[in-house]
Amino acid sequence: MFGLAVSLWAVQVNAAAMGRHSYSDFKKPGYCGMCHQEIFQEWQQGLMSQAFTHEWDQVEYFKLALPQARKLEKVAGVKAGCIACHGPLAFLSGDIPPKPASAGTRANEGVSCDICHSITGTSEPVPFNFSYIIEPGNVKNGPRSDSQSPVHKTRYSKFTTSPELCATCHDEQSPYGAWVKTTYREWKAGPYGKEGVRCQDCHMYHAAGKAAAGGKMRSDLAHHNFHGSHFPNKLAGAVDLALYARKKAVKRGGMLKFRAELFNGKVGHYIPSGSTEERMLWLEVWAIDANGKSYKIPVSRKGFAGEDYTIADSSALAYQAIGEIMEIKGFKGLKRDGNIPDGARIFRKPFFDPKGRMTVCQWYTVDNTKVDYRIGPRETKIEQYSWKVPGGIPKGRLVIKANLLYSEVPSSIGKFFKLPEKEYAPLLVNTATMVINVR
Ligand code: HEC
Ligand code: HEC
Ligand code: HEC
Ligand code: HEC
Ligand code: HEC
Repeated sequence: MFGLAVSLWAVQVNAAAMGRHSYSDFKKPGYCGMCHQEIFQEWQQGLMSQAFTHEWDQVEYFKLALPQARKLEKVAGVKAGCIACHGPLAFLSGDIPPKPASAGTRANEGVSCDICHSITGTSEPVPFNFSYIIEPGNVKNGPRSDSQSPVHKTRYSKFTTSPELCATCHDEQSPYGAWVKTTYREWKAGPYGKEGVRCQDCHMYHAAGKAAAGGKMRSDLAHHNFHGSHFPNKLAGAVDLALYARKKAVKRGGMLKFRAELFNGKVGHYIPSGSTEERMLWLEVWAIDANGKSYKIPVSRKGFAGEDYTIADSSALAYQAIGEIMEIKGFKGLKRDGNIPDGARIFRKPFFDPKGRMTVCQWYTVDNTKVDYRIGPRETKIEQYSWKVPGGIPKGRLVIKANLLYSEVPSSIGKFFKLPEKEYAPLLVNTATMVINVR
C-alpha cells in the first residue's frame, strides 16, 4: 500500500505538467493589475499572493520538507509537490526546488492571476493534490459570457466558478495515503455543499462594480479578498458561544455545574479546516470572584477515544520529527499545546507520523483518524463544567467567563522557529459571560 502511494505522488507530479511550461508563458500580476486594479489590490493583500513567500511556508519547505525529501525516498515527491500548490509558476516551469523567497524569483508570485484564470479543469474525478489542468495563453477563463477585453480573449468557464477549482489545491493526500487537507470534501458532504453555497460565495465578496477600467458595470462583481483564518475579522464570531446553568446560585463549598454551547453557523466546512495539522480552536473558562480573583475551570471529560489530545496538557510533548529532520541531538519535542492553559478543551484533529508521534509535517503523516474533535458546518458542540466552589470565596457576584481562541500554529513551534508573533498569537473568536450568585 505504501509503495503505491509513492508512485501516486510521482504520477500526480507528471499529470500536473511539471516543467512543461516556462515562466514566460505566464503574465505577471502587475500586468493584469494595470486594468484590474481593485482585484489586484485585494489579491495582493490576501494569502494567495503570499503562498510561497509567507515566513512559515518558507520555513516549513526549506527547513523541514525539502531536507526530508532528500533523505527519505518515501516523501521525495514533496520536493515538487509543495511547490505545485504554493509556487505553481516555479512548478510548471520545472524550477524545482525553487530558490528561497529572498532570491526574488517568479516563484514568489504564488497563486497568481494567470494561474487561476488559465486553469480549465482537473484530471481527477474528485480533485485534490494539484490535479489542475492548465492551458496558459491569451484566453482568460472567467465567470461571464459577455465580457470583452482589449488585450486578451475571454471565455466563460463553469470550472472557474466551481468549488472544484479550489479543491485542486485545498484537498491533499500525503505520500502515505492519509487525507491531510479536506476542506472541499468537508464542504461537499455538509449542508452548504448540498445547498450549492460555493466557496466563492463566502470567500469572494460579490458587489456592484467594474472588473476593469473600461469594463461593463456588474451588479455582482467577484472581489478577490480570499479572507480565511489569517484575517481576524473573518474568524471573529465564526462560532457562536453561550454559557448556561440550571441554577444561578451556589453555596460556598458547593458544586457549580454549567455548560458551554458552541454553534458553527458561519463556516462552510469544519473549523479548524485546511492546515488542520497545526490549527487549534480552544475554549478557556474561568470564574472571577467578588474580589477579582480568578480560578481556572477545566472541562469535564466525555470519555471518547483519543480525548486526551483534546484537553490542554502543559506536560505533553510532540513534534519530535522536527528534531530528527534538523538533526538536533537530544531533541525531546516541543510542547504539544503551546501555551494553552491546562484543562482547556481543544477542538482539533491530531496528525501522526510513521513512528506514532503527533506531527505538524502533513506530508509525513500516516494517520489522522484517531480523533476528530472539530466543529462541523452547522454543528453544535456542548461542553460540561463542574467546579467545587472554594469554601473561602467571598459571597456575592461570581462571573464565569469563557474565551474561544484560535491559533494558526502551536506557539511552541512558532517560538522555536522564531516566526513573527502574529503567525501564532491567539486570535479571539468569541467570548461569553454568566453571573452566578455565591451565598
Ligand atoms: C485562487 C484563484 C484566483 C486567483 C488567484 C485570481 N482569481 Fe480572478 N477569479 C477567480 C474566480 C473563482 C472568479 C469567479 C468568481 C465567481 O464565480 O463568483 C474570478 C473572477 C475574476 C474576474 C471577473 C470578475 C467578475 O465578476 O466579472 C476577473 C476580471 C478576475 N477574476 C481577474 C483576476 C485578476 C486580475 C487576478 C490577479 C490580481 C485574479 N483574478 C486572481 C479566481 C481567481
Ligand atoms: C488592458 C486592460 C486589461 C489587462 C492588462 C488585462 N485585462 Fe482582463 N479584462 C479587461 C477588460 C476590460 C475585461 C472585461 C470586463 C467586463 O466586461 O466585465 C476583462 C475581463 C477579464 C476576465 C473576465 C473573463 C470572463 O469572461 O468572465 C478575466 C478572468 C480577466 N480579464 C483576467 C485577466 C488576467 C488574468 C490578466 C493578466 C494576465 C488580465 N485580465 C489583463 C481588461 C484587461
Ligand atoms: C493553485 C492552488 C490554489 C487554488 C486553485 C486555490 N487556492 Fe486557496 N490557497 C492556496 C494556498 C497554497 C494557500 C495558502 C497560502 C499560505 O498560507 O501560504 C491558500 C489559501 C487560501 C485561503 C486561506 C486564507 C487565510 O486567511 O487563511 C482561502 C480562504 C482560500 N485559499 C480560498 C480559495 C478559494 C475559495 C479557491 C477557489 C476559488 C482557492 N482558494 C483556490 C492555493 C490555492
Ligand atoms: C458558508 C460560508 C463558507 C463556505 C461555503 C466556505 N467557507 Fe471557507 N471559511 C469560512 C469562514 C467563516 C472561515 C473563517 C473561519 C475559519 O478559519 O474556519 C473560513 C475559513 C477557510 C479557510 C481557512 C481555514 C483555516 O483554519 O486555516 C480556508 C482555507 C477556506 N475557508 C477554504 C474554503 C474552500 C476551499 C471552500 C469550498 C470548498 C470554502 N472555504 C467554503 C466560510 C466559508
Ligand atoms: C494540494 C496543494 C498543497 C500541497 C501539495 C501543499 N500545500 Fe501547503 N497549503 C495548501 C493550502 C490550500 C493551504 C492553506 C490551508 C489553510 O489556510 O488552512 C496550505 C497551507 C500551508 C501552510 C500553513 C500556512 C499558514 O500560514 O499557516 C504551510 C506552512 C504549508 N502549507 C507548507 C507546505 C509544505 C511544506 C508542503 C509540502 C510538503 C505543502 N504545503 C504542500 C496547499 C498545499
